Amino acid sequence: MTVKNKVIVITGASSGIGEASAKLLAENGAKVVLGARRAERLAAIVNDIEAAGGQATYQVTDVTKQADVDSLVQLAQSTFGGLDVIFNNAGIMPSSPISALHTDEWDAMIDINLKGVLHGVAAVMPIFTAQKHGQIITTSSVAGIKSFAGAGVYGATKFAVRNLMEVIRMESAQEGTNIRTASLYPAAINTELLHTITDEKTKQGMDAFYQQVGISPQAVANVVNFAVDQPEDVNVNEFTIYPTKQV
Ligand SMILES: NC(=O)c1ccc[n+]([C@@H]2O[C@H](COP(=O)([O-])OP(=O)(O)OC[C@H]3O[C@@H](n4cnc5c(N)ncnc54)[C@H](OP(=O)(O)O)[C@@H]3O)[C@@H](O)[C@H]2O)c1
Repeated sequence: MTVKNKVIVITGASSGIGEASAKLLAENGAKVVLGARRAERLAAIVNDIEAAGGQATYQVTDVTKQADVDSLVQLAQSTFGGLDVIFNNAGIMPSSPISALHTDEWDAMIDINLKGVLHGVAAVMPIFTAQKHGQIITTSSVAGIKSFAGAGVYGATKFAVRNLMEVIRMESAQEGTNIRTASLYPAAINTELLHTITDEKTKQGMDAFYQQVGISPQAVANVVNFAVDQPEDVNVNEFTIYPTKQV
């Protein structure tokens, strides 16, 4: 079973990597179910997909709430009659030095980038286990495979989800449930992510860096599409996506 006709839930689908992935997957025949907090953005993306002949629906979803993610998954099943893939992509990156003690932002990153992914996992695990089929794709980051000054807590959440994806893959192989996982490690991708940085000095540095090297989220969407397109017995599980110009 390739991308065509797969039912795919995508969180963080209202902009950037999630939006680009939703559009590409729908173009290739997937039925996509979009979740994020901004309703107007989601509605506009669903309109674009339908105007291009694709199938999509959306529901306002806050990934910090298990009930919201459960409900998004139920919407996929009731609208399209099943579920094949969840793309846990919602995330924020209010980076700052640890010494600045932006502890509210630490909490928000843990709630969205880590617990949000766990909520996605918990929502699909009973379905995937029962049907012995399913794929969980999660957007980690290059900050999830190496350390960056200024990204201590962000990186901690991204290292954590990397571990989670690998353990789910291993346990599923042990349990014979055929659940495949993939972690994406994008580097500088031009999206709205830098809007979440409140630390002025960090923001200036990151804005300048992204202007210099950043690439389109389409690059990540292409990789998501590739992962979904693999045969059932193939688990492609780790992808770094760098701008060619980025060191
Ligand atoms: N851009 C990069 O350079 C880069 C590099 C490595 C990893 N990443 C990761 O890529 C993922 C996507 O980010 P992006 O770069 O595409 O940035 P983006 O354009 O800012 O997209 C982030 C998405 O997450 C959603 N989101 C944030 N909080 C949420 C919540 N509580 N509940 C549901 N959705 C929420 C946002 O939608 P709403 O605001 O409408 O909820 C938006 O759709 C993130 O996990 C990010 O950490 C990005």
